[in-house]
Amino acid sequence: MKDLQNKAIEVLNNNWKNGFSVPCANLYPFQWFWDSGFIAIGFSHVDMAKAEKEVETLLDSQWDNGFIPHIIFHTETDSYFPGPDFHRSDLSPQSSKKYKSTGMTQPPVTGFVLRELFRISKDKIETLKFIGGVIDKVYFNHEYFYNNRDPKNEGLVYIYHNWESGTDNSPIWDDIWATMNPPEYNFERRDTTHVDASQRPSKREYDHYLHIIDIAKEHNYSDKKIAELSPFLVQDPLFNTMLIKSNQSLIDLYKLIGNNEDKIKQLQKWLDKAIKNFNSKLFDKELGVYVHYDLRNEKPLRFISSSSFSPLFAEIPNKEQAASLVSVMMEKFGNDNQYLCASFDPTSERFNPKKYWRGPVWVNLNWILYYGLKNYGYNDIANRVKKDTIEIIEKAGFYEYFDSRKEEYKNGNIGYGGNNFSWSAALLIDMLQDN
Ligand code: GLC
Repeated sequence: MKDLQNKAIEVLNNNWKNGFSVPCANLYPFQWFWDSGFIAIGFSHVDMAKAEKEVETLLDSQWDNGFIPHIIFHTETDSYFPGPDFHRSDLSPQSSKKYKSTGMTQPPVTGFVLRELFRISKDKIETLKFIGGVIDKVYFNHEYFYNNRDPKNEGLVYIYHNWESGTDNSPIWDDIWATMNPPEYNFERRDTTHVDASQRPSKREYDHYLHIIDIAKEHNYSDKKIAELSPFLVQDPLFNTMLIKSNQSLIDLYKLIGNNEDKIKQLQKWLDKAIKNFNSKLFDKELGVYVHYDLRNEKPLRFISSSSFSPLFAEIPNKEQAASLVSVMMEKFGNDNQYLCASFDPTSERFNPKKYWRGPVWVNLNWILYYGLKNYGYNDIANRVKKDTIEIIEKAGFYEYFDSRKEEYKNGNIGYGGNNFSWSAALLIDMLQDN
């Protein structure tokens, strides 16, 4: 295990670019929101200064309204599409004057990442000092979400683009693409020069992605207009789980810091409302798991994905609901021929074990499920998730995603997407430390 851990540290150090980390070389050459959070957790075990700097740089990109973008374009490169000239964050009067970025966000992990840094730290006093200096930015980010992305006042925020979900190419979005007919764009893809096209989205899928951005840009990234006009408007269980967990973490941290009663009260209010409506709106009794809700077309998107189980991480389900999640997970995703946890229902026609979020195993979701299962005392299954994660990385390397079918590993070539991928390394380091 020491060898594997050393390799993981090497991956992180190689992807460190003096102030922030890239998710992996070539394919993703900038700073990504939730990647940065996971990377900071990995670094905090071996180099707290880098962990803090990673978070600090991310938070430095915050807009005047509290928004934090999904990609921060620190460097000029034409090896990525769509880059800053397409996204045009400058169209928003509230965007950062310092950094070019996208005008969309990603799962808000920063609150619980700070809490993790504190948990892992060997010098709690120093780490709490650091946290005290940045925590209000995270609070401001939550305020942005609840004030701008919760039109029905449910405590459940929406995402307006599939790239905001983090699970970019999930088959769940196919139902939304079926409601749209975007123009054909002329552009040069860059991702498929780095990675086999069969593991990436199709050209037509990209037309949908670009069209939603164009609608937002036409209105200078106004949240009001996006809520009114975006064909994609979804309450995502994974995204909301990240926000809820981060709310809980901010409460813990503000208590440790002291003198923040008003903020703690507000966070608790958001939290209570969110958990109540999460359970009444997103839990699908028939499927026995959480599902996404399409706010634009007012209907649940009734598919089972690894996001369906993620609420365990923020202790959203009651005991019975948790038992139901675990039983569905083990029945459909967890037999002896499969590594936990496929990103999409292996029994569905839409399952594709090689394609970007349409089936492969992702280490960040495994990490979320590992701690989520432990929250409810499912330690054996949590340990299976950990063991599976170690095994696929040992067999394949630090890839971006992995085949869930064990038999495929006999033929080699089962790690997909980018190699030497930061969060696969970072979260493995964390799981190896945890018993
Ligand atoms: C892909 C993933 C997204 C991640 C990004 C950078 O777009 O879908 O979740 O943040 O790569 O790693």
